Amino acid sequence: MSIKNKIIKEKLPTHLAIIMDGNGRWAKMRGEHRIVGHQHGVEAVRQTVEAAGELGISYLTLYAFSTENWNRPKDEVLGLMSLLVEAIESETPTLMKNNVRLQAIGDLDSLPLEVREKLEGTISTTSNNSGLTLVLALSYSSRWEIVTAVKNIASQVQNGDISLDEIDSDLFSSQLTTKGIPDPELLIRTSGENRISNFLLWQIAYSELYFTELFWPDFNKEELYKALLDYQNRERRFGKISEQINDK
Ligand code: IPE
Ligand code: IPE
Ligand code: MG
Repeated sequence: MSIKNKIIKEKLPTHLAIIMDGNGRWAKMRGEHRIVGHQHGVEAVRQTVEAAGELGISYLTLYAFSTENWNRPKDEVLGLMSLLVEAIESETPTLMKNNVRLQAIGDLDSLPLEVREKLEGTISTTSNNSGLTLVLALSYSSRWEIVTAVKNIASQVQNGDISLDEIDSDLFSSQLTTKGIPDPELLIRTSGENRISNFLLWQIAYSELYFTELFWPDFNKEELYKALLDYQNRERRFGKISEQINDK
């Protein structure tokens, strides 16, 4: 039986998040420039988006560029931005064909105008698609997002729009860039790094974490199926004990 057939449809995550890491090392291993790794990363994105859509996953959030990534050498940042423009343009017909809706989270105003325009164009073109929602995290960092949310809430209290007592977990979530999107049940990180790097800190409170040694350009449909199977074999207890989960 192929590994895909072992996946139980009813137990799929609604929201899958991925930290796509290891492009630079993938390229270095081959004696290539880091940007070559980023270029090959686009193919892994294509496969992952396609597989997630085919399986019927509702949300896929991909960490593509962090706030901290602005501190990389200028030529790499420029290379990544032009790759982004190219990829959004070349992938839009495929997103349409596969009924994928594009969204973006992060400090989008800090992106170069060309990236923002392409992004907004494809977000609008795909806005009526009803299949997978693909969320690109761009110039995103969780602490930035949380601080922004705190400021918004504080100003609403100051203006008398809400009272202190109204602040709870749901209200806080509604002030985040992921508003309206359920928390990810599964977070995957490639490249062997076992850290979160400022990604969705609030949202992953109870996510299952899956780390693989593979560099992102080597990630593909089969690897996604493996991660999903691993996830489906876990017991999510949310603070309860095993018997409470199984006696339901
Ligand atoms: C992930 O790959 C892509 C981005 C962060 C933009 P890296 O570029 O971080 O690759 P490594 O981790 O240096 O190998
Ligand atoms: C995390 O990867 C950010 C993205 C994948 C976009 P990094 O390569 O920037 O993370 P660190 O620096 O290794 O923690
Ligand atoms: Mg990295």
